[in-house]
Amino acid sequence: MEPVGIKTLECMVYIVRDLERSRRFYVEHLDFAIAGESTPEHEAASGERTILFQAHRCKVLVVAPVTEESRAAKWLKTHPAGVAELVFQVQDADKALKLIESRGGTPICDVEEQVDGDGRALKQFGITTPFQAVWRFVERVQKGGLYQGIKGRELGEHNSLRFGHFDHITSNFSTLSPALLWMEHVMGFERYWGINFHTVDVDPARTSGSGLKSVVMWDPNSGVKFANNEPQRPFFDASQIALFVQDLRSDGIQHAAMTVRDIIPAVRQMREKGLRFMPTPASYYDMMPQRIEQSGIQRIDEEIETLRELEILIDGKAEHAYLLQIFMQEAAGLYEEADAGPFFYEVIQRKGDKGFGGGNFRALFESIERQQRAEGRI
Ligand SMILES: [Fe+2]
Repeated sequence: MEPVGIKTLECMVYIVRDLERSRRFYVEHLDFAIAGESTPEHEAASGERTILFQAHRCKVLVVAPVTEESRAAKWLKTHPAGVAELVFQVQDADKALKLIESRGGTPICDVEEQVDGDGRALKQFGITTPFQAVWRFVERVQKGGLYQGIKGRELGEHNSLRFGHFDHITSNFSTLSPALLWMEHVMGFERYWGINFHTVDVDPARTSGSGLKSVVMWDPNSGVKFANNEPQRPFFDASQIALFVQDLRSDGIQHAAMTVRDIIPAVRQMREKGLRFMPTPASYYDMMPQRIEQSGIQRIDEEIETLRELEILIDGKAEHAYLLQIFMQEAAGLYEEADAGPFFYEVIQRKGDKGFGGGNFRALFESIERQQRAEGRI
């Protein structure tokens, strides 16, 4: 199938009520830089105030409503804070639109010629998706441009935690097939990885539990990857995927994984700044030497005691090929406010493993379940 011409996943558009809280999160906790801000003219025209945060190739455009008629305000009437758009850079916006529409995609506008807050030209269009998030496709007519009405400049690596790029975006659906078919037939993506997991697989005697089916699709051209989950019976409604959809009040984007060059100092620094992560059971680390042996990883460069101290997870299946990952607490938990939403970030360091921490699903499930149990929800 002819590729749409995606070069990269450029940016996530995240809608919030409290922009100052986002600034503290990205700048103070994650050492992101402010790459751009909305111009007064754009704020007046859109009824929104916007800040573009950037750490190397991870860009997040955080938008807060100024007026109740704005797009951001409309989002917040039907959802908590969360990811409302993904922005892809494409080689040729006109070609991409033609291709997507010919395959049954749904553009929300024609290709528009725009300028960013410094007058740099870009072409863009958006489409609706089964993700409840708009996918926007931007062609950079002038290099180094930002987004319509955003003034600032592209930054370099510039981050003490050494974030790299979005490794993958994970979304939750009540039913997965329409999204997978759409990605395959409209976007030309291919299946990359898949897993089914249920806590009853661990203990068939359980009278409660949580399960999911997960399929990763990717655009082989750009390498952009999407992990996609649906709940799995038994205890369908208690699946953390079903609870997420309930919390977001729709299907949508659950987490974004950002690569990091060296996860140990990065997590240490984030913890020192007071950032909270999903807890990992101590037994996970007691079992780690055995898991490293049985999985075939055989040896790791890190001290298990350091991973235990920082609660970093490990997964892999070939000798000395593995990944290290950790999940931040979701925004609603970080801020103890339901309207902050169920989205969270993953931090991942790949050391030869191309999977998605399937072996850690159990640990992640257990930690989320513990939290949901503590909240009396399951
Ligand atoms: Fe992930």
